[in-house]
Amino acid sequence: MTAEEFVRELDARNQAVLERLAPDATLAPEVSGDLNVPNLLRVALKNEIEATEIAARWLTTTDDVEVKMAFARQAGDEAKHYRMIADRLRELGVDARGFNPLAKGYGPLFNYLDTLTTTVERVSAGQFTREAIAVVKNRQFIEFCDRAGDRVTATLYRDVIEPDERFHHELGRSLLVRSATTPEAQEMARRAAARTLALAEELQTAALRTAGIHHAPGC
Ligand SMILES: [Fe+2]
Ligand SMILES: [Fe+2]
Repeated sequence: MTAEEFVRELDARNQAVLERLAPDATLAPEVSGDLNVPNLLRVALKNEIEATEIAARWLTTTDDVEVKMAFARQAGDEAKHYRMIADRLRELGVDARGFNPLAKGYGPLFNYLDTLTTTVERVSAGQFTREAIAVVKNRQFIEFCDRAGDRVTATLYRDVIEPDERFHHELGRSLLVRSATTPEAQEMARRAAARTLALAEELQTAALRTAGIHHAPGC
């Protein structure tokens, strides 16, 4: 199978799983406390800091200039999202400056991504798949904000964060087309994508309900 064919197939496979991520069911297990905009934004801060850090770690451990700069771009965008979300929390009366989203440690998705050493696995899991999940979750979060009457947060996600996450997904697509060129590489990419989706799906199980914060809106 050519790399283009492989990426199309992987995309279809991912989308089929993503359709199962039901709106509020996806959000509920990730929040400690009430399901409201500030609590969800706190979860988002953790996702943004983890996404920033994983991209930054990966940019220092590849010699491929195109890949390096893709991770650099992503790290910068995720750090920008972090600041925008922290600013929005302050407007909502929550001072995020004393809040350390990593106080309870890194989440299982971060820990999994951190084990990946090849470009094909990294771009498949961390960009192509994780950012596709982010797009779906952010769309759900925008609907949630609209229903809650928070138009400012909805607009921040609709106009800035969601388009950036979509761009990260597209970066992943182009790097995957470049790197998933052999049956072995395609198998590695497929496995990394499946593991990433499985970690996202586990959030919907009751077992993780008590495990605190995992993956959520806005990475
Ligand atoms: Fe992103
Ligand atoms: Fe982000």
